[in-house]
Amino acid sequence: MNDMSGHHFASHSAPADVERRAPFPPDDNASRPIGVVLEIAGSNSQIALDLQRLSECTADADGAIALSGQVGSQVKIRTMDGWLLAAIRDQRQDRRADGGSVLAHIDFVGEGGEERLTGRIMSFQRGVTRYPMSGALVYPATSEDLRQIHASDAGTSVTVGTVYPTGDIRAALNVDALLGKHFALLGSTGTGKSTAAALILHRICEKAPQGHVVMIDPHGEYAAAFQDAGTIFDVGNLQMPYWLMNFEEHCEVLLNSTGQEWQEDADILAKCLLAARSRNRLAQVIGKITVDSPIPYLLSDLGAILQDEAGKLDKATSTAPYKRIKTKIEELKADPRYQFMFSGMLVGDTMAEFIAKIFRMPGEGRPISIIDVSGVPSDITSTVVAVLSRLVFDFAIWGRKESTRPILLVCEEAHRYVPSEQHADGAAVARVLSRIAKEGRKYGISLGLITQRPSDLAEGVLSQCGTIISMRLNNDRDQNFVKAAMPEGARGFLDSIPALRNRECIICGEGVTIPVRVTFDDLEPAKRPASADPSFTALWGEPVSDEGAVDRIVQRWRAQGK
Ligand SMILES: Nc1ncnc2c1ncn2[C@@H]1O[C@H](COP(=O)(O)OP(=O)(O)O)[C@@H](O)[C@H]1O
Ligand SMILES: [Mg+2]
Repeated sequence: MNDMSGHHFASHSAPADVERRAPFPPDDNASRPIGVVLEIAGSNSQIALDLQRLSECTADADGAIALSGQVGSQVKIRTMDGWLLAAIRDQRQDRRADGGSVLAHIDFVGEGGEERLTGRIMSFQRGVTRYPMSGALVYPATSEDLRQIHASDAGTSVTVGTVYPTGDIRAALNVDALLGKHFALLGSTGTGKSTAAALILHRICEKAPQGHVVMIDPHGEYAAAFQDAGTIFDVGNLQMPYWLMNFEEHCEVLLNSTGQEWQEDADILAKCLLAARSRNRLAQVIGKITVDSPIPYLLSDLGAILQDEAGKLDKATSTAPYKRIKTKIEELKADPRYQFMFSGMLVGDTMAEFIAKIFRMPGEGRPISIIDVSGVPSDITSTVVAVLSRLVFDFAIWGRKESTRPILLVCEEAHRYVPSEQHADGAAVARVLSRIAKEGRKYGISLGLITQRPSDLAEGVLSQCGTIISMRLNNDRDQNFVKAAMPEGARGFLDSIPALRNRECIICGEGVTIPVRVTFDDLEPAKRPASADPSFTALWGEPVSDEGAVDRIVQRWRAQGK
């Protein structure tokens, strides 16, 4: 071993204490220190690593030892009665030590005892109660150590891949912790996000066949993945009654004026909508209702009330606002694209039925509902997502007294629905999702946000996510955003985010024991989402018999999904 004169580190042989405890042959890298603790100062703690030792380790057959000392890898530090585990955050040359050592900042991630015979970590726990002294020796973490650390409780965990750099240690997600505090799945397009989401949800549903998962799927990708485990809803069978909308959502759909005019229209709509809802027998039974109460009403009643009210005005007052709203209602009723929501068939009181089918209560062996909103006209997609998300929230709030079960709401392309201030348009969906992010936990709602643009997410939403699963992010702005939201122990991994391969990710936070780099399992084709990217070479490479395809497309186009 090199003499690290700058730090009085290297006794040429392992200290007597170590020899007594760990009876390894002298060439055993696991039993020989690779460095020494220089300074313990919270997040500024530093170690010095012996370059000679690091290069000896590189050749080790154990992949974890071979990576010793690299940024993002873990090291063990000896304490009085066991081991501390720390992650290497950065590295730089030690100018004082003739190039024989490097200095590194470390983040402590947890501690454990020492298994007497083998020297391995045992009973590992996250968090540190006792810091080492400066001068404490630093050892490589071995694959066996990692195996102990990642050993998961099969009762509450699902495994989704393997721990890097080992090819065989299973990476586990603790489902209770993952869902207990929301999670975010981030990564640039093509890194394997959607497949990872399907993988995680499949594993969760296998573990929890009586679960309640609602997935908002803007691109219609997930139907393919959940043919067996899920129920698929799209504009053809969603049948979401318009009267479930609250007042704010009604305004988004029915009003297109702005400024002062909008306010006038909104006041009129509030009054007439309340009158229309009040005509329902339910309203009479309940007594006092509000404009937000989810009580069925007839669109034709609303139209008639608007007309009556306009008729009562004196000559000087314009009837234009009444006409505007009435015209919009007529438009929606007549347009086939809006039938999934504004059909005359949807007037019955189907609320309980609708909620039961969407939330999978009972689940009938299909705990996840995929709500494919790709066919929803774009001007109301965000309102539709708002209604669905709000139903989850309101259901949980009104269900506090019952023993209802927690619900997981997963939102793909989350940056569209909870956008940062710059892109915000005051939509109802952003408000309800932010509210779920902040308060959902208390009511047993878990949020899963999936996005390729974390920097476009509303401020604060990412920090509400207890677990962050980050795949490769190509853009600096996104990287910086994620860095800010990641816990301390994961900082060593941050630099690897732009360098991750497809299907690899960094997972940190509540759902994992320690921050970990994971290679996701290969998901069997029948469980994968339909990838949005066509293969040009395959599709253009050979002739296909698609006779009549253009005609069929035109027909569907004209019929608008009817
Ligand atoms: N875990 C996996 N198992 C099998 N195939 C995968 C996996 N992850 C990604 N892929 C493949 O990689 C491609 C891109 O994945 P996708 O999930 O659509 O990425 P993203 O949603 O990030 O754009 C798809 O063709 C998908 O089948
Ligand atoms: Mg995707």
